Amino acid sequence: FQTIIEPFRIKSVEPLRFTTREERAAALTRADGNVFKLRADDVLIDLLTDSGTGAMSSAQWGGLIQGDESYAGSRSFYRFEQVVRDLTGYAHVIPTHQGRAAERILFHTILKAGQIVPNNNHFDTTRANIEVEEAEARDLVIAEGRQPSVVHPFKGNIDLDALEALLARDRDRVPLVMVTVTNNSGGGQPVSLANLRGVRALCDRYGTPFFLDACRFAENAWFIRQREPGMADRTPSDIAREMFSLADGCTMSAKKDGLSNIGGFLAMRSDAWAEQCRTLLILTEGFPTYGGLAGYDLEAIARGLEEVVEEPYLRYRIRSTEYLADKVARAGVPIIQPAGGHAVYIDARALLPHIPPLQYPGIALVNALYVEAGVRSVEIGTVMFGLHADGTESAGALDLVRLAIPRRVYTQSHIDFVAEAVIHVAAMRDRLRGYRITSAPRPLRHFTASFAAL
Ligand code: F0G
Repeated sequence: FQTIIEPFRIKSVEPLRFTTREERAAALTRADGNVFKLRADDVLIDLLTDSGTGAMSSAQWGGLIQGDESYAGSRSFYRFEQVVRDLTGYAHVIPTHQGRAAERILFHTILKAGQIVPNNNHFDTTRANIEVEEAEARDLVIAEGRQPSVVHPFKGNIDLDALEALLARDRDRVPLVMVTVTNNSGGGQPVSLANLRGVRALCDRYGTPFFLDACRFAENAWFIRQREPGMADRTPSDIAREMFSLADGCTMSAKKDGLSNIGGFLAMRSDAWAEQCRTLLILTEGFPTYGGLAGYDLEAIARGLEEVVEEPYLRYRIRSTEYLADKVARAGVPIIQPAGGHAVYIDARALLPHIPPLQYPGIALVNALYVEAGVRSVEIGTVMFGLHADGTESAGALDLVRLAIPRRVYTQSHIDFVAEAVIHVAAMRDRLRGYRITSAPRPLRHFTASFAAL
């Protein structure tokens, strides 16, 4: 059969709340033109993020009641630790309340001012947690990864020549190399095993540790299986294990491929780094067997990490994102090609050439999609990445609007509606206007900035 169906049925439902266009326009005004400040009840289809927004399985819900809430030595921690060790092979598993806590603990422990952390593309919190240590977050994705319309099977790959040049010149200033799988700010694009092996070889040559930002490791493994020669017969979990085996550690947000609503971890081989990280963990997150999480959260993550590598799930997951991408691309909407794993990224700069980057074409599109259809998306562009540590502002590498698909939440008719909404807004592109920022904090200004229409 050709039809790829949702590999689950629905046991518990939540009603959606319908609003009128006038109600949404008023809600957006109350939110200072920033969809992060909307009340979620005023959103019809919420594609703001795939983080923590997934539906848990009945097995996960069942696991909650079995959570062991002991402060120290909880049974749920040991179950969680075993699942993460089986997957990653890393000796040290440090739970955290979400991914950025793992980043903060790792970077605050090992980074010094003036150092450089290369990555394919740093995501917003990763970059901010490096910059707050007065170190530099450097993006080294391959050239194809910076060109939205260029099709390449592994647009998330890091440029190995650029990485080698950096290590040859500045080896002493690079405390670790990171690679993000899949590459979120570069369009949810995968990284090949060949590329990860190349990073491993360079890190061995220069004696530099290598960490994965592993939030979407399972989606990356599925792309490897589909696209990398010789991989079609391997299981996703086997491929994922090899990905982790090539690195020395990882940061992880369990809110993505942990299929959980909260949680994350830091895992690594190094005894010395782990000991220092645990010390900071106790200071800011909690005792090392809970790290800011409840015992039931650890149960949900352990089960989620097992479910996320199941083949029917990944086949449906990757196909359903591609389905939305195909629909809007066929209607002529410029998107990052090929579709990402967790999201479709509209090229707002290409769609709205009359709005210059410093008037935020991504915000114009995000806000129009909300007002017209009640669909909430997110800008990944000049607002998110255009303000620099020295206070200057320039155009982001791209101005994208991300439609992130929560895991196991929306059905095909919801996605059909989203495609119709995107095509409708694209047809009125000439009427969209830019924005200016009226107030914003630093860093991570996108979350709370206020906007006024021009
Ligand atoms: N790394 C990547 C690649 C991410 O996408 C995120 C979060 C994080 C780290 C931080 O994890 O949210 O658990 O602290 N991305 C979300 C998003 C928020 O919408 O893409 P966190």
